[in-house]
Amino acid sequence: MNYRERVIVALDTDTLRKAKQLVKKLKDSIKIFKVGAELFTACGPKVVDMVHEAGAQVFLDLKFHDIPNTVAGAARMAAKMGVFMFNVHISGGLRMLQEACIASAEEARKNNIAAPKLIGVTVLTSLNQEEMNGEVGIPGTVEETVLRYATLAQKTGLDGVVASAKEVAAIRAELGKSFMLVTPGIRPAWSEKQDQSRIVTPKQAFELGSDYIVVGRPITQAKNPAEAAQKVFEELPSEISH
Ligand code: C5P
Repeated sequence: MNYRERVIVALDTDTLRKAKQLVKKLKDSIKIFKVGAELFTACGPKVVDMVHEAGAQVFLDLKFHDIPNTVAGAARMAAKMGVFMFNVHISGGLRMLQEACIASAEEARKNNIAAPKLIGVTVLTSLNQEEMNGEVGIPGTVEETVLRYATLAQKTGLDGVVASAKEVAAIRAELGKSFMLVTPGIRPAWSEKQDQSRIVTPKQAFELGSDYIVVGRPITQAKNPAEAAQKVFEELPSEISH
C-alpha cells in the first residue's frame, strides 16, 4: 500500500446525485470515501452501495454512541454493508466498545467478508478545554483525555482512533506503530483554510504519524476535483515510514 491509497475523501453533500457525481470524478484516484451523518441521513445504505459499485470503499462516519446493545446492533449493520471502516465514541465506555467489536466481527464472519476497521472518536476537536471541563465535566487537559480515551480504545481491541494533527505524535508515541490514526483537518499548501483552524498539509500529517488522512472541501469543492486529488498526491512523501 502507498500513501495514495490512504487519502480518504469526505463526501459531505446532501443528495445521492451530488455524491455520485463526486465519486464518478474521483474514483480513478481515490479508493476510500467518507460517508457522514448528513449524507447517510439523506440517502441511507444506497450511498454505501453506490460507492461500492464504483469500486471504492467506505468509511462510515456515524460516530455511534448509545447503550451497548444498540451500538452492537448498529455495528452489525455497518459490517453487513461491507464498509471498510466505521467509528464509535470512546466515551460510550468499555462495554459499549467491546460489544461493538464483537458484533462487527461476528457479522462479518457470518457474511464471509472482512471485518470493518473499528475506530474510536476521542474528544471532538470542536470542544475546547474550558467547555470540556466546565460544560461536559471532564477534568484535566484535552490532550490527557485524548490519550486516556485512545488507550482505552486500544485495550478494548479497536483498530485505532480519529486524531487531530495536534494529537497524532503523542498518541503514536504512547500507543505504538500498529494503532491506526485517521486525521481530518487537512489543508494542502495551495488550498483555503475555510473553517478549519488546527490544520496541517497532507505531507505533514503523514510525517507526524497519521495512517490515513481525511480531505474534504479542498478536493470536493475544487473546480476540477480529480486534478485537486492529483495535486494532493504530488505533495505526499514517497515512502511509508511507519
Ligand atoms: O472539508 P474538510 O476537509 O474540512 O472536511 C473534513 C471532514 O472531516 C468533514 O467531513 C468533517 O466532518 C470531518 N472532521 C473534521 N474535524 C474533525 C473531525 C472530523 O473536519 N475533528
